[in-house]
Amino acid sequence: MATTRVLSGIRSSGPLHLGNYLGALKNWQELQHQYECYFFIADWHALTTDYADTDALKANMLDNMAGFLAVGLDPEKCTLFIQSRMREHAELHLLLSMITPVPWLERVPSYKEQQQQIKDKDLTTYGFLGYPVLQTADIIMYKGNYVPVGIDQVPHIELARDIARRFNHLYTPVFPEPQPLLTETPKVPGLDGRKMSKSYNNALYLTDAPEEIDSKIRVMMTDPARKRRSDPGNPEVCPVFDFHKIYSPHETIALVDRECRTAGIGCIDCKKMMSTNLLQEMGPILEKRRELEKRPQEVLAVFEEGSQKAQHTAQATMAEVRAAMQLL
Ligand code: TRP
Ligand code: SF4
Repeated sequence: MATTRVLSGIRSSGPLHLGNYLGALKNWQELQHQYECYFFIADWHALTTDYADTDALKANMLDNMAGFLAVGLDPEKCTLFIQSRMREHAELHLLLSMITPVPWLERVPSYKEQQQQIKDKDLTTYGFLGYPVLQTADIIMYKGNYVPVGIDQVPHIELARDIARRFNHLYTPVFPEPQPLLTETPKVPGLDGRKMSKSYNNALYLTDAPEEIDSKIRVMMTDPARKRRSDPGNPEVCPVFDFHKIYSPHETIALVDRECRTAGIGCIDCKKMMSTNLLQEMGPILEKRRELEKRPQEVLAVFEEGSQKAQHTAQATMAEVRAAMQLL
Protein backbone atom coordinates (compact mmCIF):
# COMPACT_ATOMS: atom_id res chain seq x y z
CA MET A 1 0.00 0.00 0.00
CA ALA A 2 1.45 3.33 -1.02
CA THR A 3 1.64 5.77 1.84
CA THR A 4 -0.40 8.92 1.60
CA ARG A 5 1.83 11.94 1.62
CA VAL A 6 0.79 15.27 3.01
CA LEU A 7 2.72 18.47 2.44
CA SER A 8 2.20 22.07 3.41
CA GLY A 9 4.13 25.23 3.99
CA ILE A 10 3.80 28.60 5.59
CA ARG A 11 5.16 31.86 4.23
CA SER A 12 7.59 33.35 6.74
CA SER A 13 6.32 36.89 6.33
CA GLY A 14 6.02 37.64 10.05
CA PRO A 15 5.94 36.18 13.54
CA LEU A 16 3.38 33.40 14.01
CA HIS A 17 0.07 34.42 15.54
CA LEU A 18 -3.05 32.68 16.75
CA GLY A 19 -4.57 32.88 13.27
CA ASN A 20 -1.69 30.81 11.88
CA TYR A 21 -2.06 28.35 14.74
CA LEU A 22 -5.82 27.85 14.52
CA GLY A 23 -5.90 28.03 10.72
CA ALA A 24 -2.99 25.70 9.92
CA LEU A 25 -0.50 24.54 12.53
CA LYS A 26 -3.04 22.97 14.88
CA ASN A 27 -4.36 20.88 12.02
CA TRP A 28 -0.86 19.88 10.88
CA GLN A 29 -0.09 18.76 14.38
CA GLU A 30 -2.98 16.30 14.13
CA LEU A 31 -2.14 15.20 10.57
CA GLN A 32 1.40 14.17 11.52
CA HIS A 33 -0.08 11.22 13.41
CA GLN A 34 -2.09 10.00 10.40
CA TYR A 35 0.07 10.53 7.32
CA GLU A 36 3.61 10.81 6.09
CA CYS A 37 3.97 14.58 6.41
CA TYR A 38 6.32 17.25 5.13
CA PHE A 39 5.97 20.72 6.62
CA PHE A 40 8.20 23.61 5.69
CA ILE A 41 8.81 27.32 6.00
CA ALA A 42 8.56 29.10 2.66
CA ASP A 43 11.16 31.83 3.05
CA TRP A 44 11.57 32.32 -0.69
CA HIS A 45 7.84 32.95 -0.87
CA ALA A 46 8.26 35.70 1.74
CA LEU A 47 10.57 37.40 -0.76
CA THR A 48 7.87 37.65 -3.42
CA THR A 49 6.39 40.60 -1.55
CA ASP A 50 9.19 41.60 0.85
CA TYR A 51 12.15 41.57 -1.54
CA ALA A 52 13.01 45.22 -1.01
CA ASP A 53 13.43 44.96 2.75
CA THR A 54 14.88 41.70 3.99
CA ASP A 55 15.91 42.90 7.46
CA ALA A 56 13.24 40.85 9.25
CA LEU A 57 13.74 37.66 7.25
CA LYS A 58 16.07 35.83 9.63
CA ALA A 59 14.16 36.77 12.76
CA ASN A 60 10.90 35.64 11.16
CA MET A 61 12.50 32.32 10.20
CA LEU A 62 13.69 31.72 13.74
CA ASP A 63 10.30 32.70 15.12
CA ASN A 64 8.47 30.39 12.73
CA MET A 65 10.79 27.44 13.36
CA ALA A 66 10.41 27.77 17.14
CA GLY A 67 6.64 28.13 16.67
CA PHE A 68 6.44 24.90 14.64
CA LEU A 69 8.12 23.03 17.49
CA ALA A 70 6.15 24.80 20.23
CA VAL A 71 2.81 23.72 18.77
CA GLY A 72 3.95 20.12 18.84
CA LEU A 73 5.18 19.37 15.33
CA ASP A 74 7.55 16.53 16.08
CA PRO A 75 10.62 15.83 13.93
CA GLU A 76 10.25 12.15 14.85
CA LYS A 77 6.83 12.12 13.22
CA CYS A 78 7.14 14.48 10.26
CA THR A 79 9.82 16.07 8.12
CA LEU A 80 10.33 19.74 8.96
CA PHE A 81 12.41 21.78 6.55
CA ILE A 82 13.39 25.17 5.18
CA GLN A 83 12.49 25.99 1.58
CA SER A 84 15.69 27.92 0.82
CA ARG A 85 17.80 24.96 1.90
CA MET A 86 16.32 23.01 -1.00
CA ARG A 87 18.12 24.13 -4.16
CA GLU A 88 16.16 21.39 -5.95
CA HIS A 89 12.99 23.49 -5.51
CA ALA A 90 14.65 26.31 -7.44
CA GLU A 91 15.64 23.93 -10.22
CA LEU A 92 12.17 22.43 -10.49
CA HIS A 93 10.65 25.93 -10.41
CA LEU A 94 12.82 26.88 -13.36
CA LEU A 95 11.94 23.77 -15.36
CA LEU A 96 8.22 24.14 -14.63
CA SER A 97 8.37 27.78 -15.67
CA MET A 98 9.27 26.56 -19.18
CA ILE A 99 5.95 24.71 -19.53
CA THR A 100 3.64 27.10 -17.66
CA PRO A 101 1.63 29.47 -19.90
CA VAL A 102 1.66 33.02 -18.54
CA PRO A 103 -2.16 33.38 -18.88
CA TRP A 104 -2.58 30.53 -16.36
CA LEU A 105 -0.69 32.67 -13.85
CA GLU A 106 -2.47 35.91 -14.66
CA ARG A 107 -5.77 34.14 -14.02
CA VAL A 108 -4.88 33.15 -10.43
CA PRO A 109 -7.20 35.34 -8.30
CA SER A 110 -4.58 36.24 -5.67
CA TYR A 111 -2.35 37.76 -8.36
CA LYS A 112 -4.55 40.75 -9.15
CA GLU A 113 -6.10 40.93 -5.69
CA GLN A 114 -2.76 41.27 -3.93
CA GLN A 115 -1.48 43.77 -6.46
CA GLN A 116 -4.54 45.90 -5.71
CA GLN A 117 -4.40 45.45 -1.95
CA ILE A 118 -0.67 45.90 -1.38
CA LYS A 119 -0.16 49.40 -2.72
CA ASP A 120 3.12 50.21 -0.97
CA LYS A 121 5.07 47.54 -2.87
CA ASP A 122 5.83 47.07 -6.53
CA LEU A 123 4.39 43.64 -7.31
CA THR A 124 4.84 43.76 -11.07
CA THR A 125 7.81 41.43 -10.71
CA TYR A 126 8.49 38.16 -12.45
CA GLY A 127 8.88 36.43 -9.07
CA PHE A 128 5.48 37.57 -7.85
CA LEU A 129 3.77 36.34 -11.02
CA GLY A 130 5.62 33.04 -10.64
CA TYR A 131 4.62 32.60 -6.98
CA PRO A 132 2.28 29.66 -7.76
CA VAL A 133 4.90 27.97 -9.98
CA LEU A 134 7.30 27.92 -7.05
CA GLN A 135 4.48 26.64 -4.86
CA THR A 136 3.82 23.93 -7.45
CA ALA A 137 7.48 22.90 -7.31
CA ASP A 138 7.26 22.75 -3.48
CA ILE A 139 4.27 20.44 -3.69
CA ILE A 140 4.96 18.05 -6.53
CA MET A 141 8.62 17.61 -5.57
CA TYR A 142 7.41 15.31 -2.78
CA LYS A 143 4.70 13.71 -4.89
CA GLY A 144 2.33 14.91 -2.19
CA ASN A 145 -1.20 13.62 -2.46
CA TYR A 146 -2.84 16.07 -0.08
CA VAL A 147 -2.08 19.67 0.68
CA PRO A 148 -3.81 21.00 3.80
CA VAL A 149 -4.60 24.65 3.09
CA GLY A 150 -7.23 27.28 3.64
CA ILE A 151 -9.85 28.01 1.01
CA ASP A 152 -7.85 31.01 -0.29
CA GLN A 153 -5.06 28.68 -1.44
CA VAL A 154 -7.25 26.32 -3.47
CA PRO A 155 -6.61 28.07 -6.82
CA HIS A 156 -2.88 27.54 -6.21
CA ILE A 157 -3.38 23.81 -5.69
CA GLU A 158 -5.56 23.60 -8.80
CA LEU A 159 -2.81 25.27 -10.78
CA ALA A 160 -0.30 22.79 -9.34
CA ARG A 161 -2.56 20.03 -10.62
CA ASP A 162 -2.69 21.60 -14.09
CA ILE A 163 1.08 22.02 -14.26
CA ALA A 164 1.70 18.45 -13.02
CA ARG A 165 -0.73 17.16 -15.66
CA ARG A 166 0.97 19.16 -18.39
CA PHE A 167 4.37 17.83 -17.36
CA ASN A 168 3.13 14.23 -17.34
CA HIS A 169 1.53 14.74 -20.73
CA LEU A 170 4.53 16.43 -22.41
CA TYR A 171 7.15 14.00 -21.06
CA THR A 172 6.50 10.90 -18.97
CA PRO A 173 4.16 10.57 -16.00
CA VAL A 174 6.25 11.54 -12.97
CA PHE A 175 3.88 13.45 -10.74
CA PRO A 176 0.62 12.51 -9.02
CA GLU A 177 -1.95 15.30 -9.16
CA PRO A 178 -2.17 16.92 -5.72
CA GLN A 179 -5.48 17.58 -3.96
CA PRO A 180 -6.27 20.31 -1.46
CA LEU A 181 -7.15 18.97 1.97
CA LEU A 182 -9.69 21.51 3.13
CA THR A 183 -10.07 21.75 6.86
CA GLU A 184 -12.81 23.40 8.82
CA THR A 185 -11.12 26.23 10.61
CA PRO A 186 -12.81 28.63 12.98
CA LYS A 187 -13.15 32.33 12.29
CA VAL A 188 -10.19 34.02 13.98
CA PRO A 189 -10.72 37.76 14.17
CA GLY A 190 -8.05 40.14 15.36
CA LEU A 191 -8.40 42.43 18.35
CA ASP A 192 -10.20 45.03 16.23
CA GLY A 193 -12.63 42.56 14.65
CA ARG A 194 -10.89 42.45 11.27
CA LYS A 195 -9.05 39.29 10.14
CA MET A 196 -6.06 38.64 12.40
CA SER A 197 -2.97 39.84 10.60
CA LYS A 198 0.44 41.23 11.40
CA SER A 199 -0.16 44.13 9.02
CA TYR A 200 -3.32 45.20 10.88
CA ASN A 201 -1.46 45.24 14.19
CA ASN A 202 -4.31 43.30 15.79
CA ALA A 203 -2.73 39.91 16.48
CA LEU A 204 -2.09 37.68 19.46
CA TYR A 205 1.36 36.16 18.98
CA LEU A 206 2.74 32.82 20.11
CA THR A 207 5.58 34.86 21.64
CA ASP A 208 3.22 36.96 23.78
CA ALA A 209 3.43 36.41 27.51
CA PRO A 210 0.15 35.29 29.14
CA GLU A 211 -0.16 38.70 30.87
CA GLU A 212 0.33 40.40 27.51
CA ILE A 213 -2.45 38.31 25.98
CA ASP A 214 -4.70 39.10 28.89
CA SER A 215 -4.12 42.84 28.62
CA LYS A 216 -4.62 42.79 24.84
CA ILE A 217 -7.95 41.01 25.36
CA ARG A 218 -8.96 43.61 27.96
CA VAL A 219 -8.86 46.35 25.30
CA MET A 220 -10.27 44.15 22.56
CA MET A 221 -13.18 45.45 20.51
CA THR A 222 -16.67 44.28 21.48
CA ASP A 223 -20.10 44.90 19.99
CA PRO A 224 -19.72 48.61 19.15
CA ALA A 225 -23.42 49.19 19.88
CA ARG A 226 -22.90 48.16 23.49
CA LYS A 227 -21.56 51.40 24.93
CA ARG A 228 -22.72 51.15 28.53
CA ARG A 229 -22.90 48.21 30.91
CA SER A 230 -26.69 48.43 30.82
CA ASP A 231 -26.89 48.25 27.00
CA PRO A 232 -27.82 44.81 25.68
CA GLY A 233 -25.26 43.43 23.21
CA ASN A 234 -25.18 41.17 20.18
CA PRO A 235 -22.55 38.44 20.51
CA GLU A 236 -22.81 37.59 16.80
CA VAL A 237 -20.94 40.79 15.92
CA CYS A 238 -18.43 40.58 18.78
CA PRO A 239 -14.92 39.14 18.22
CA VAL A 240 -14.72 38.19 21.90
CA PHE A 241 -17.58 35.78 21.27
CA ASP A 242 -15.72 34.24 18.30
CA PHE A 243 -12.95 33.33 20.73
CA HIS A 244 -15.43 31.95 23.27
CA LYS A 245 -16.63 29.64 20.51
CA ILE A 246 -13.07 28.39 20.06
CA TYR A 247 -11.89 28.15 23.64
CA SER A 248 -14.83 28.06 26.05
CA PRO A 249 -16.94 25.08 27.12
CA HIS A 250 -20.51 24.83 25.77
CA GLU A 251 -22.10 26.09 28.98
CA THR A 252 -20.04 29.27 28.91
CA ILE A 253 -20.83 29.89 25.25
CA ALA A 254 -24.54 29.45 25.97
CA LEU A 255 -24.33 31.69 29.02
CA VAL A 256 -22.57 34.51 27.15
CA ASP A 257 -24.95 34.15 24.21
CA ARG A 258 -27.90 34.64 26.59
CA GLU A 259 -26.58 37.11 29.13
CA CYS A 260 -24.92 39.46 26.61
CA ARG A 261 -28.26 40.00 24.90
CA THR A 262 -29.97 40.95 28.17
CA ALA A 263 -27.04 42.93 29.62
CA GLY A 264 -26.86 40.26 32.31
CA ILE A 265 -23.12 40.04 31.89
CA GLY A 266 -20.66 42.90 31.38
CA CYS A 267 -17.91 42.91 28.75
CA ILE A 268 -15.17 43.03 31.38
CA ASP A 269 -16.32 39.78 32.99
CA CYS A 270 -17.05 38.20 29.62
CA LYS A 271 -13.52 38.95 28.43
CA LYS A 272 -12.02 37.70 31.65
CA MET A 273 -13.71 34.32 31.19
CA MET A 274 -12.60 34.10 27.59
CA SER A 275 -9.03 35.06 28.40
CA THR A 276 -8.84 32.44 31.15
CA ASN A 277 -10.11 29.70 28.84
CA LEU A 278 -7.83 30.74 26.00
CA LEU A 279 -4.80 30.77 28.25
CA GLN A 280 -5.75 27.45 29.77
CA GLU A 281 -5.47 25.80 26.37
CA MET A 282 -2.63 27.92 24.94
CA GLY A 283 -0.57 28.07 28.13
CA PRO A 284 1.64 25.05 27.45
CA ILE A 285 2.32 26.20 23.87
CA LEU A 286 3.23 29.73 24.97
CA GLU A 287 5.48 28.31 27.64
CA LYS A 288 7.25 25.95 25.24
CA ARG A 289 7.67 28.84 22.80
CA ARG A 290 9.36 30.97 25.47
CA GLU A 291 11.59 28.11 26.44
CA LEU A 292 12.68 27.51 22.81
CA GLU A 293 13.49 31.22 22.53
CA LYS A 294 16.59 30.48 24.61
CA ARG A 295 17.81 27.69 22.33
CA PRO A 296 17.80 29.02 18.76
CA GLN A 297 20.74 26.82 17.73
CA GLU A 298 18.90 23.65 18.69
CA VAL A 299 15.78 24.80 16.88
CA LEU A 300 17.75 25.53 13.74
CA ALA A 301 19.49 22.14 13.97
CA VAL A 302 16.12 20.37 13.86
CA PHE A 303 15.28 22.12 10.60
CA GLU A 304 18.75 21.59 9.11
CA GLU A 305 18.42 17.89 9.77
CA GLY A 306 14.89 17.81 8.36
CA SER A 307 16.09 19.66 5.26
CA GLN A 308 18.73 17.00 4.69
CA LYS A 309 16.10 14.32 5.01
CA ALA A 310 13.79 16.10 2.58
CA GLN A 311 16.69 16.49 0.19
CA HIS A 312 16.89 12.72 -0.36
CA THR A 313 13.34 12.74 -1.68
CA ALA A 314 13.94 15.92 -3.69
CA GLN A 315 17.09 14.53 -5.31
CA ALA A 316 15.31 11.35 -6.33
CA THR A 317 12.48 13.36 -7.90
CA MET A 318 14.89 15.63 -9.75
CA ALA A 319 16.70 12.64 -11.25
CA GLU A 320 13.36 11.48 -12.66
CA VAL A 321 12.52 14.97 -13.91
CA ARG A 322 15.84 15.44 -15.71
CA ALA A 323 15.51 12.01 -17.31
CA ALA A 324 11.91 12.69 -18.37
CA MET A 325 12.99 15.97 -20.00
CA GLN A 326 16.05 14.32 -21.57
CA LEU A 327 18.45 16.74 -19.94
CA LEU A 328 22.05 15.69 -20.17
N1 TRP B 1 1.28 30.05 -0.49
C1 TRP B 1 1.17 29.49 0.83
C2 TRP B 1 0.58 30.54 1.77
O1 TRP B 1 0.67 31.72 1.52
C3 TRP B 1 2.51 29.04 1.37
C4 TRP B 1 3.09 27.93 0.58
C5 TRP B 1 4.23 27.97 -0.17
C6 TRP B 1 2.57 26.62 0.46
N2 TRP B 1 4.47 26.78 -0.75
C7 TRP B 1 3.46 25.92 -0.38
C8 TRP B 1 1.44 25.98 1.00
C9 TRP B 1 3.24 24.58 -0.71
C10 TRP B 1 1.20 24.65 0.64
C11 TRP B 1 2.10 23.97 -0.21
O2 TRP B 1 0.03 30.19 2.79
FE1 SF4 C 1 -18.93 40.80 23.42
FE2 SF4 C 1 -19.10 39.49 25.70
FE3 SF4 C 1 -19.43 42.16 25.63
FE4 SF4 C 1 -21.28 40.56 24.59
S1 SF4 C 1 -20.67 40.66 26.74
S2 SF4 C 1 -20.44 42.41 23.64
S3 SF4 C 1 -20.02 38.89 23.76
S4 SF4 C 1 -17.56 41.04 25.16
